[in-house]
Amino acid sequence: MNNSRGNFTSKLGFVLAAAGSAVGLGNLWRFPYLAAKYGGGIFLLVYLILAVTFGFSLMITEIAIGRKTGLSAIGAYKALDKRFSFLGWLACLVPFIITPYYCVIGGWVIKYLSVFLTGNVSAAANDSFFGSYISQAVSPLLWFSLYILLNTVVVIAGVEKGIEKASKFLMPMLIILSIGISVFCITRPGAAEGLKYYLLPDFGRFSIKTVLSAMGQLFYSMSLAMGIMITYGSYMKKENHLEHSVRQIEIFDTLIAFLAGLMIIPSVFVFSGGNEEALGKGAGLMFITLPKVFESMNMGTVIGSVFFLLVLFAALTSSISLMETNVSILRDKLGWSRKTATLVVSVYVLIVGAFVSLGYGPLDFITFGKMQLLDFFDFVSNSLLMPLVAAGTCILVGYVIRTKSIEDEVELNGPFQSKKFYRFIIRYIAPICLIAILIFSVMEALGLIAV
Ligand code: PFF
Repeated sequence: MNNSRGNFTSKLGFVLAAAGSAVGLGNLWRFPYLAAKYGGGIFLLVYLILAVTFGFSLMITEIAIGRKTGLSAIGAYKALDKRFSFLGWLACLVPFIITPYYCVIGGWVIKYLSVFLTGNVSAAANDSFFGSYISQAVSPLLWFSLYILLNTVVVIAGVEKGIEKASKFLMPMLIILSIGISVFCITRPGAAEGLKYYLLPDFGRFSIKTVLSAMGQLFYSMSLAMGIMITYGSYMKKENHLEHSVRQIEIFDTLIAFLAGLMIIPSVFVFSGGNEEALGKGAGLMFITLPKVFESMNMGTVIGSVFFLLVLFAALTSSISLMETNVSILRDKLGWSRKTATLVVSVYVLIVGAFVSLGYGPLDFITFGKMQLLDFFDFVSNSLLMPLVAAGTCILVGYVIRTKSIEDEVELNGPFQSKKFYRFIIRYIAPICLIAILIFSVMEALGLIAV
């Protein structure tokens, strides 16, 4: 282990830092809208199956690769096998694609926080509020810039320690508040239908699209196939039990996503009717539904404000880790100082993100097929690059360096309970499914199939 990289002080520290990166808008914003759109219960079921099979195996692999080599993605893949260096480069592209649009949504979150803090809940609860807000040119850009500024300041100052401390308090609060809001939502008249839609799988709604979107979501939510977990693994102490840590991160991440669905999906049925149009609202769902929930509560202004504050915090811990990754890639490769690299990344995010933000308003004529700019970035990273990196990693580990090298790393501190299962997934199931997913995604993008 390369000691100059520093280590997480405790096992909890590692789990929290990795969970802080994993838990973010992916759980709170992206998971519920995909679940609502792609059949509710069937999406949830497919997601859970993928989480305990693929998610578990890939996260073990990435963290073990990081800890074994003591390097971040580019160096780590190269150290394992020179011919696979390209995977490290591809993985590093992902954070560069995600960060700009992640910050655009972060800007939406600050906007909603400000609306709640100023007591304008009923305005936000109006159906057209979200759509008309994001189609403006200037205001979303200002909030987006503020969001970037928060990231830039933290990444330049390097106050990760403070974030680690705050996480210990704020993450549990997010869970408690989410449970409270979920209970409120599912006890509203009319929520039972929504609860059924979310929890009971309707196999008639299953399609290949369910698997494609659940898989993309899994990578996104658990920060997989983008080099992040490799980097985190390189900071992990040899004494920590890798398998247990991975289980904890997974459970935490999935629990928050599940709760977000529980807050949002039944509420769609209560406040907007459970028709396809209301469920298929896409990227705006959280921003359209939750204000209605808060408006109907006693003390909704306060609860809504606290909730959006916690969402903002969860988003920040994730985007800071995204930004930090971009910065460390530039520093490693180009030898830039932290400050220069952070400023360059911030300007890059500002420019590319501005296009994404304006893509809902003045630039809405820029589309890729049926996709808006945000959806296009999301598609390239989640449906193309991530499955490609994940499939390549499985082939590298399953057939070139062999799973034993990963298993040995996991076994440094205790038995690897799911070893056989792990080997089976990495060698057989994962590569086949991932390649199939990749082929479907490409065919869909080229308009060869409608899934
Ligand atoms: N996993 C984060 C989320 O669910 O919001 C998104 C993310 C954060 C991806 C950090 C990658 C990353 F490095």
